[in-house]
Amino acid sequence: MEQELRSLAEKIKPSKVIVVLTGAGASKESGIPTFRDKDGLWSQYDMERFASLDGLLADPRRVWEWYRDRYLEAKRAQPNPGHKALAEIEALLRNRGKDFAIITQNIDGLHQKAGSENVIEIHGSLYRAKCMECGKTYAMDDVINGSLPPYCECGGLIRPDVVFFGEPLPEREMEMAIYYAQNADVFITAGTSAVVYPAASLPYIAKDAGAVLVEVNVEDTPLTPLCDFVLRGRFGEVLPRLYDEIKNSI
Ligand code: APR
Repeated sequence: MEQELRSLAEKIKPSKVIVVLTGAGASKESGIPTFRDKDGLWSQYDMERFASLDGLLADPRRVWEWYRDRYLEAKRAQPNPGHKALAEIEALLRNRGKDFAIITQNIDGLHQKAGSENVIEIHGSLYRAKCMECGKTYAMDDVINGSLPPYCECGGLIRPDVVFFGEPLPEREMEMAIYYAQNADVFITAGTSAVVYPAASLPYIAKDAGAVLVEVNVEDTPLTPLCDFVLRGRFGEVLPRLYDEIKNSI
């Protein structure tokens, strides 16, 4: 791994745009379960029932209780060394005039908690909720302490501001994500199974546009054969080592 990290740092040195796409595996070492690991959320909960609009409308109280619990878990969770390393890599690269972005599928806010600034949340955030009638947005803290499901002052049902299966991703965030995928010199995926679209299309867009493609994961994914660098290891262990190599080389 040492040699791969060193040569990746050498690739990053002349690069102008460096992008990281993170998934649930990035938050595993912060105590937040992934979705598709054997102990993942979808092995315990029916995703149709809990992560779809039909599911919310069929049983709003039960689904809201689930999101409230996931929000409280995210609020308690602390960034792990991988999150912190990404915040340090961002600061280091931006100080040298490079553009750095994290595109995250995660809704737990841990990148921001670690100090990352340029974070594009393409699946929304547990920290926000919005009215389905008038679109008013709420801080999750302001709607979870009363009875569930919460209703807007306009009478509309409030929902978590996260992307349910089958829904379009937020337009502005997706435009930014596609821009970064098309312009990345180095595109790193970290902790994602790379099977849920359209997020999973971003590494392919980057590769087609000429990016160096990197995968940080504890196991193979459909993306692995396409990658120029496969860093087989935990997010919280690999990213700090990559930070050290970049710091020493840049
Ligand atoms: N370090 C690095 N990778 C890890 C770690 C770790 N400590 N632990 C698990 N992984 C990897 C797993 O091997 C797997 O490839 O993280 C990935 C987690 O995959 P998923 O559970 O499918 O999570 P994700 O890719 O983020 O799912 C995408 O699916 O259900 C939807 O909206 C949800 O955003 C989510 C999307």
